[in-house]
Amino acid sequence: MIDATHTRARRQAILKHVQGMPLLFRAAPEVLRNGDVHFSYRQDSSFHYLTGFDEPEAILLAIPEGKTSHRTLLFVRPRDPAREIWDGKRAGATGAKRQYGADEAWPISEFWKVFGDLSKDWDGLAHALGIDPKFDAELLEHFGRRFKDRPRRNQGLPAFLDPRPAIHAARLIKSKEEIELMAEAARITGEGHRVAMALAEPGMMEYELQAELEAVFRKNGSPRVGYDSIVASGSNACTLHYIENNNKIRKGDLILIDAGAEYGHYSADVTRTFPARGSFSEPQKAIYDIVLRCQKRCIKAIKPGLPVSKLIEMSQKDILKGLDGLGLLGRGSLESKWKKRAFAKYYMHGLGHWLGMDVHDCGAYQLPDGKPIKLAPGMVTTVEPGIYIPANDKSVPKEFRGIGVRIEDDILVTRSGHRNLTEDIPKEVADVESMTQL
Ligand code: GLY
Ligand code: MN
Ligand code: MN
Repeated sequence: MIDATHTRARRQAILKHVQGMPLLFRAAPEVLRNGDVHFSYRQDSSFHYLTGFDEPEAILLAIPEGKTSHRTLLFVRPRDPAREIWDGKRAGATGAKRQYGADEAWPISEFWKVFGDLSKDWDGLAHALGIDPKFDAELLEHFGRRFKDRPRRNQGLPAFLDPRPAIHAARLIKSKEEIELMAEAARITGEGHRVAMALAEPGMMEYELQAELEAVFRKNGSPRVGYDSIVASGSNACTLHYIENNNKIRKGDLILIDAGAEYGHYSADVTRTFPARGSFSEPQKAIYDIVLRCQKRCIKAIKPGLPVSKLIEMSQKDILKGLDGLGLLGRGSLESKWKKRAFAKYYMHGLGHWLGMDVHDCGAYQLPDGKPIKLAPGMVTTVEPGIYIPANDKSVPKEFRGIGVRIEDDILVTRSGHRNLTEDIPKEVADVESMTQL
């Protein structure tokens, strides 16, 4: 459980990295879908990380007080009984203080007045310029006025420092409490995948399977999916982000499901590929085995200090060897095929990505000097190699065409190595086949 004590500590940690400047951070805007209906609202992940506050139209101002403490101001929508009948309860200024640990809270309409008074003498402000040009223009106008009104102070615009790199670096390393939430997202995701494996059968529409899967997520307390679920039968699996999910599952198809539940603002990201019912065909199993062996070897290698680039290279070599072993890469030496990156025709994406509040979570993959980042305890990465052979690829025997396989788990880097948060979800051939024969 993440409470106001945690979010205060997070703000304090960020303030350390923004040169003693006050931090200004805004909530995600509501986005109109049509007429007077909005897209369902999800708070900006970093705003949630810093405040735990999930309403729109809010601004955080964290003002350092010495080196180890700060004052938190939250500007929020005021209580409004008439609006709350339509849109639900608001925390209001009182709730912002009581539930979210703000030292001071104001109605959002007071922002410019309060901010104007407070910031009169500020030389710096940690704020991400460029996200909302209209807000930035107001900010610049405010500071410009300050210069004009008090020319004798000879105080120009404050220095602006983008706080996002510091926030993203902090979000990259997950705390014990975050890991608990991610483990729960992983558990719920596993429940859904298992149900989908057991229910899938030829004749069913992909969206029916999606509905069964997402119903399990929702029944387990997941408020939403972490990303649009991919339920791809047959060669649809070769479209990496296939989300139409509107085809009929056919006998003999493999089904690739890439779906993750969100829980407590953290997302899982899991892919399993399995026969629509019964067993893998020989060619399907041959491709599946390559991906599975590669995925397991990469996971096994994960430990602190390993550069992510090594892991990617390991997966590419495994896939290359596997495909070449099946004779799917034509003539020539393995070495020349490696040089030509022959694997990329069938394995065209990376091995994985950071995972957290966002499915493709923030955090650097390279150091400022361009060197790859090394794994460290608290990072969570997906490991998701795949092979996708287009249905119209005449360069391979017919029986391999249209096979798409990806296997994806969520791996926490620990001090001693790693922990697979999603390891309970069946992926060994025998386990998958026993699920699909239930
Ligand atoms: N679900 C999207 C991905 O695996 O990156
Ligand atoms: Mn995925
Ligand atoms: Mn992924």
